[in-house]
Amino acid sequence: MYRARTPEPQSIATARAGSNIAFIKYWGVADPRINLPLNNSISMTLADLHTTTTVEWDTAGRLSSDQITIDGETATGKKAERVTEHLNLIRHLAGDRRYRARVVSRNNFPMASGIASSASAFAALTVAACAALELPFDRTRMSGIARRGSGSASRSLFGGYVEWEQGRDDATSVARQIYPAEYWTLRDIVAVVSTAEKPVSSQNGHSMAITSPFNSARVDSLYGMLQDVRNAITMRDLPRLGPVLEQDALAMHGVMMTSRPSLLYWQPGTLEVIHAVRRWREEDGLQVYFTIDAGPNVHLICEPTFEVEILKRLQKLGSVRSVITSGPGDGPQLLDKHLV
Ligand code: PMV
Repeated sequence: MYRARTPEPQSIATARAGSNIAFIKYWGVADPRINLPLNNSISMTLADLHTTTTVEWDTAGRLSSDQITIDGETATGKKAERVTEHLNLIRHLAGDRRYRARVVSRNNFPMASGIASSASAFAALTVAACAALELPFDRTRMSGIARRGSGSASRSLFGGYVEWEQGRDDATSVARQIYPAEYWTLRDIVAVVSTAEKPVSSQNGHSMAITSPFNSARVDSLYGMLQDVRNAITMRDLPRLGPVLEQDALAMHGVMMTSRPSLLYWQPGTLEVIHAVRRWREEDGLQVYFTIDAGPNVHLICEPTFEVEILKRLQKLGSVRSVITSGPGDGPQLLDKHLV
């Protein structure tokens, strides 16, 4: 008897996702197996710093393992394992599929610049891998999946201003959009002061947060700060937002520095930029505020009107090697053109 074969799902898809910069940071995990954070975090998705990823599932069974290429180089070791682990999760959610995958990924910003690429990378990987299997998951569901690859990736599933709810479990720890990108055209100017490889990845750093005596104080203080950030975004009020984002960046780095072992991501250039920002604000009235992720580079947040002046001033600081700029951008998109 003739039996119609179940059609194979569309097996290839390409997605582009923007990185994001957090105003209230994610630092520390309550459950490292699922990247359940200790607190809510709020970020701005970036338009001009993005990752494009093609996932092609090998439905014909030719590959014996996943093949991963990142920025033109075959990924091996820990990097490849992290991608395969994420693909394993998606294979599992797709009903324990056994297909291997070819993954080709490209960042439009230099990975060596020390700018976090894991947020855009795991957001793009999640969207492409799910689309290529035609999994009927909405953005919220994919935010939870992306979180498992890298916590901050949960926020890159949405555009504009985004809050990641701490949640209680795998299903509830997801991000949502607060306002779209057009709501407020803030600028993020990244002052790159070092391109050295991080001494400790943020993935490993999260589990050390609880060893700092300051960690619980930071977490306890966040309830009010999160509300301040939401209000400041609603009112598009940078003088209200700025001090809060600086305070949480410093609090997070205070936790890092006082963890056991101590994590010190700053370089001399980090301090040069921090002091310059404060001087420009206090002496010249330039409305610009800083935040710093798990690295030495400093993100300067300002309104577009101050951008040219800030770029000019950054050029005169001896420790600034290069500058990358972006405004807020949309959530991930599927593209017709594949990288394979
Ligand atoms: O997503 P991860 O594990 O790379 O952690 C990101 C941590 C910070 O960038 C320091 C803060 C944040 O909320 O993005």
